[in-house]
Amino acid sequence: MKQPRSIVITGASSGIGEALALLYAGPGTVLALTGRDSARLEAVAERCRAAGARVDAAAIDVADRGAMAEWLARVDAETPVDLLIANAGMSAGTGDGSETEEQARRILAVNVDGVLNSIHPLIPAMRARRQGQIAIMASLAGFRGLPGAPAYCASKAMVRVYGESLRGDLAGEGIGVSVICPGFVKSRMTAVNRFPMPFLMETDAAARVIRRGLERNAARIAFPWPMMAAVWLLALLPPSWTDGVLRRAPRKA
Ligand SMILES: NC(=O)c1ccc[n+]([C@@H]2O[C@H](COP(=O)([O-])OP(=O)(O)OC[C@H]3O[C@@H](n4cnc5c(N)ncnc54)[C@H](OP(=O)(O)O)[C@@H]3O)[C@@H](O)[C@H]2O)c1
Repeated sequence: MKQPRSIVITGASSGIGEALALLYAGPGTVLALTGRDSARLEAVAERCRAAGARVDAAAIDVADRGAMAEWLARVDAETPVDLLIANAGMSAGTGDGSETEEQARRILAVNVDGVLNSIHPLIPAMRARRQGQIAIMASLAGFRGLPGAPAYCASKAMVRVYGESLRGDLAGEGIGVSVICPGFVKSRMTAVNRFPMPFLMETDAAARVIRRGLERNAARIAFPWPMMAAVWLLALLPPSWTDGVLRRAPRKA
């Protein structure tokens, strides 16, 4: 969508979500932003208001299905949503030992259930209007299981494939669906990594790439291209060729 007027962004209290909120903020834009940290979220909301946007900021855990459904219904009733960016997510890995069941379940609750809780409350209304756009934040980490982050990789693979399927399913109803697959982007999530991150991007630059992709309703917004190419090759090669290398790769704490 070229000029979405009403935009929902989950996980807007920092990182890529914050950069997207600031990029879209301007006179005539209505933003609905969520995150859990009210202070950080309100600071982002204030900057967006200063840029001329009308902002509704609500501290909600995306894993809370009822709270998300209630908030999104209110937001859409006030100003029908043109674009939803289901961006909120968390990461953790096996750098401190094997992934616990607890960790795996929490990552899936936020990164998978959280995406479902963000998009489904709006789909019936978009269907009825035969208009709307949904963007799902996946990752280049979702193309091949990495020993350093099992649940994270699985969660991003799930939402990527789900988004690709949804795109075909909803295309005939006037609703666009894009999946976003970034490589490394500077944020609170990557700030904790103690290993080299090839082609690490600034959040503003990532937000601009995402916005350009969404303007042309791209099916997949994957970047930067050298990381995309590396991941594509990794996914293509037989696991027996790549397992050894991946086992030795650094792991996220
Ligand atoms: N940075 C990268 O290299 C990279 C690469 C590929 C994909 N991604 C994806 O991009 C998205 C944004 O990450 P980021 O890099 O910008 O990291 P970030 O700075 O840590 O931002 C994560 C955002 O998600 C929110 N969030 C986390 N758990 C939540 C929950 N349970 N309920 C509601 N909001 C929640 C956070 O809000 P609070 O802090 O207020 O809880 C924050 O606003 C994630 O889905 C991530 O997986 C990032």
